[in-house]
Amino acid sequence: MRWLILPAVLTLAVTAHGAEPWEEVSGALGQVEALPSGALSKAELEDLIAIGDELFIAKFTSAEGAGRPAATQAILPTKRRNPATSAFARTSGSDSNACSSCHNDPVPGGAGDFAATTFVSEGFTNSDFDTTDPQFSNERGTNHLFGAGLVELLAREMTAGLHAQRAAALVKARQTGAPQTVDITTKGVSFGSITARPDGIVDTSNRDGIDADLVVKPFGQKGVMVSLRQFSVNAMNHHHGMQPVERFGPRWTGEADHDGDGFADEIRAADISALVAWQATLEPPARITPEDTTWRDLAATGSQNFDAFGCATCHIRTLPLDSLSFADPGPLDTAGTLKDRDVAEPAVYELEFLEWAKTLERDDQGRVLVPLFGDLKRHTMTDRTNERLGNELLAQRFVDRTAFATTELWGVASTAPYGHRNDMTTLDEIIRAHGGEAAQSAMAYRDATDRHRTTLIAFLKTLVLN
Ligand code: HEC
Ligand code: HEC
Repeated sequence: MRWLILPAVLTLAVTAHGAEPWEEVSGALGQVEALPSGALSKAELEDLIAIGDELFIAKFTSAEGAGRPAATQAILPTKRRNPATSAFARTSGSDSNACSSCHNDPVPGGAGDFAATTFVSEGFTNSDFDTTDPQFSNERGTNHLFGAGLVELLAREMTAGLHAQRAAALVKARQTGAPQTVDITTKGVSFGSITARPDGIVDTSNRDGIDADLVVKPFGQKGVMVSLRQFSVNAMNHHHGMQPVERFGPRWTGEADHDGDGFADEIRAADISALVAWQATLEPPARITPEDTTWRDLAATGSQNFDAFGCATCHIRTLPLDSLSFADPGPLDTAGTLKDRDVAEPAVYELEFLEWAKTLERDDQGRVLVPLFGDLKRHTMTDRTNERLGNELLAQRFVDRTAFATTELWGVASTAPYGHRNDMTTLDEIIRAHGGEAAQSAMAYRDATDRHRTTLIAFLKTLVLN
């Protein structure tokens, strides 16, 4: 419980809500009175982040709405067919007490080990699940959230870039009366090509690694979620049975207590905003220069091998970001997650205010070079000779079963185990598991000498969470 005393001039309304020390509730909810809006000052942002921090580690209780006796874990609000037989189940979440129950390694906001895998399925809307059989859900490992605000900002700018290219192609098609086929590339990442026709129809069948809406979706192992806000709303219901009003409230379900546990309006939009602010401002992982000179030398050669083996074609070292202003709600969300059009004015969090922002490298145009080692794109990761990553049987959001989003490698030294199911204990194992579009690169690694393979691992071991 925190008691925030703020001067009345601040626009961010923070209440001294909280709970009494003996009340069996998390005490984290309801501390932000109104949805934050407009540009927050540094002090206001810090207050909001502190509340978000509490929400991320809060263990929600049945005395404030945890659990969903009458509703499923599905992303779409859905009632259960049969009443829940127990309050907590592995297969329907995993059900957990706090966000940090899974995102905890090495600190809150971090990754999770195999014990923290979750079960993901579109089919959760249709039946009750009591099995971990991959016929019914995909099992996913917990990824870390450090630098997630920068990742979402990159994805928004990339989406805007692709949409501008689509609009320009349509204009040209109309002006010339002839179909226009254009390569769509943003921040140096190619997403294939599209053909705009004079009648206004866009043929996206030759796009690559992205959905037909040309929205870069940076979150989830599959790269199918748009924003931290969308993910937080999903996760609150999926893992905790805490139902955000913006999706499970009267607007979409016609009821205030959709999960039938006796608590109306469990999580208000302002609470989700605080949670998003905390995640969006988590500092990005860093690269260490080892003191051990042997490690340092190996890592230096390994860094060259990372390029030589072709790893950097997908795990791109840095992507340039124009703006550090994070608006929430954001521009790309759809029904069931608050979006910018739903509010008078979104809140804007200036990531510049954060200490870590000073350490970010910039290019000669003043753009921040986000050192993510990723491309925010999906790739086919299996082929006939290597199906190690082809362990999912269900398509998620109509994406091929064998396609996954390039994992950002920043922080990888601190987030074992590896792979989308978190079922590989060594870096060597996951690198060898790369097939499909990454087959050549994996082959270069496999065919290298022991020493050169070691250098690559020594390099990856310098990419740590702080
Ligand atoms: C039971 C474990 C578990 C709990 C609890 C949990 N998560 Fe996660 N989280 C995961 C897993 C697993 C993934 C990857 C999911 C996927 O790929 O489909 C993930 C992914 C995410 C991502 C996307 C990160 C990325 O880079 O792709 C965000 C954001 C996130 N979680 C936020 C939250 C928040 C906020 C909460 C609490 C409301 C929460 N999580 C609770 C396991 C968990
Ligand atoms: C064609 C694109 C591509 C290339 C080339 C590529 N990767 Fe990957 N990498 C991916 C994708 C996609 C994933 C996610 C795989 C999954 O779903 O588990 C991944 C995952 C990883 C992971 C797992 C991270 C984690 O936390 O689970 C590591 C480590 C990794 N790659 C290292 C490398 C190295 C080293 C090379 C070069 C030898 C390389 N990759 C080449 C696309 C690529």
